[in-house]
Amino acid sequence: MTTPAYSPGLEGVIAGETAICTVEGGLSYRGYFVGDLAEHCSFDEVAYLLLHGELPTAVQLKEFQTRVAAARRVPPPIKDLLGALPKWTTPLDALRTAVSALGHFDQDSADNAHDANLRKAERLLAQIPVVIADHYRIAKGQPEVPARQDLSHAANFLYMLRGVEASPMEVKALDVSLILYAEHEFNASTFAARVIVSTLSDLHSGITGAIGALKGPLHGGANEKVMDILLASGGPEKAEEWTKSALARKERIMGFGHRVYKTGDVRAGILKKFAQDMATQVRQTNADRGTELQKWEDTADIIERVMATEKNMFPNLDWPAGRLYYAMKLEIPLYTPIFAMSRISGWSAHVIEQLDNNRLIRPRALYKGPPRRPVKPIAERG
Ligand code: CMC
Repeated sequence: MTTPAYSPGLEGVIAGETAICTVEGGLSYRGYFVGDLAEHCSFDEVAYLLLHGELPTAVQLKEFQTRVAAARRVPPPIKDLLGALPKWTTPLDALRTAVSALGHFDQDSADNAHDANLRKAERLLAQIPVVIADHYRIAKGQPEVPARQDLSHAANFLYMLRGVEASPMEVKALDVSLILYAEHEFNASTFAARVIVSTLSDLHSGITGAIGALKGPLHGGANEKVMDILLASGGPEKAEEWTKSALARKERIMGFGHRVYKTGDVRAGILKKFAQDMATQVRQTNADRGTELQKWEDTADIIERVMATEKNMFPNLDWPAGRLYYAMKLEIPLYTPIFAMSRISGWSAHVIEQLDNNRLIRPRALYKGPPRRPVKPIAERG
């Protein structure tokens, strides 16, 4: 038997086929360049595109938004569960637990037919922001804010979190970040979801596993580390020296580097402008905070320059996302859940694609252990 090719971390390996997304020639979702989607569409349209395969007509979008808005609620036992979690439970861990539990209450839970999967996907798209916002408020001892049916995915989430409507600028910035986060081919969490459902498991199991994979700081967890990096750098005066010595200590600068993009991530460039504009906007109403935010934008520019010259490494989407959400006064442990609230659209599209044309995903391992040896009776094992 010939030894199959081995690539550590599966780098460069083609592990399946998909019609949902490609990174070749610039990231695109179902044939549309992500920059064009961010410029011309809302997240709600992009979620429809990922789940249903085409951009919606105005009527299709209205019907989709109506279905999703009507599903913006979770059964009372889920709220009890969120309240019963230990107070140190992170929002992402709470979300992972809640998505698993939501599977028990979904009438289509065990049905893997295409239409049933679409119904479950739309429900989870609606329920995930509710879970994040409810857990956030319950953990603070605040009453939950009922979802609004007249608001978009982004606007309703901010409303449920804060109890007041967000400004159009905040809604737009969050919405664009959700478009950019929505889908990314065979990234770790999506691949995890596909592996899980390839056993003919179910959508809720796949999404629960995907959230677990997203959590790590090499993947979605990186956006919660961005402000740590900026704070640790000490600001514009010290950032260059700090970055160089962090690199000399072989530390990873979270928000930089990518397995696939070696010359830059187009998404980071798009969202950077929104982070900068938010800092400028805040400055007009709150000079002190605006000055602080500008300081982090300036620091970010310096770290970007040092990373490019020292490591030929460029920011990924998490770098501006962490700063944008901080400028919006969103608490840092919410950043990866926000990623999940968007990526649920891509995850679900992949789960559906996998189950529509399934073959068990079961690769091989290159064995590095001891050669075959005899089992000694226990008395002879020294
Ligand atoms: N800062 C400093 N050094 C780095 C970084 C970084 N951000 N990323 C990679 N390196 C170094 C790494 O230390 C290693 O050096 P050496 O060869 O001397 O040991 C070399 O580059 C190769 O690292 P690798 O982990 O084998 O490379 P990879 O292509 O598998 O890594 C990555 C991709 C995203 C895991 C990595 O770049 C990283 O850890 N970045 C920081 C975390 C991060 O921002 N993750 C978000 C990824 S994109 C969006 C998302 O999924 O959320």
